[in-house]
Amino acid sequence: MKYEWAFDETKQIGIDYTDIKQVQSYDSSMQKLRDIKNENEGILKDINISKDHTIVEFGTGTGEFALEAAKYCSKVIAVDISKEMLRYAEMKAKSRNIKNIEFCNGGFLTYEHKAGNIDSIISQLALHHLTDFWKIIALKRIYSRS
Ligand SMILES: C[S@@+](CC[C@H](N)C(=O)[O-])C[C@H]1O[C@@H](n2cnc3c(N)ncnc32)[C@H](O)[C@@H]1O
Repeated sequence: MKYEWAFDETKQIGIDYTDIKQVQSYDSSMQKLRDIKNENEGILKDINISKDHTIVEFGTGTGEFALEAAKYCSKVIAVDISKEMLRYAEMKAKSRNIKNIEFCNGGFLTYEHKAGNIDSIISQLALHHLTDFWKIIALKRIYSRS
């Protein structure tokens, strides 16, 4: 059910990540600006990743974390409200022959986990897309899975 007052997380705020040019430019600029390898290593260590784990990532973007995490766990569920981001990340997964990522169009407020345990939920540089009130709702939804 959709409520008038509810935050519509499918609406792009700021950069339009439904535009493939923005997606490509985001991906290449992040490769230059960030030490993604080091970031990923830190997160994987923090969540104590294991071969039998299922991980959910919110706001997966161009998939750099999901692609790395998939090497060390059973399944990554990569969630994003932008279908274009997901298509791009999926293309990268195919080109690297990574098959244990489920790409899911949804968001912090609308993703419904269907079946199976979740061992870790992670998100990087995505929660700021929500207003403060809806950030709390998102965190409560995440916490309710623990
Ligand atoms: C700045 S990018 C970060 C991507 C990636 N996590 C990274 O570290 O490079 C933010 C991503 O969050 C997604 N996003 C925005 N609002 C969202 C929401 N409510 N739920 C899930 N993803 C969302 C955007 O589509 C975009 O892919």
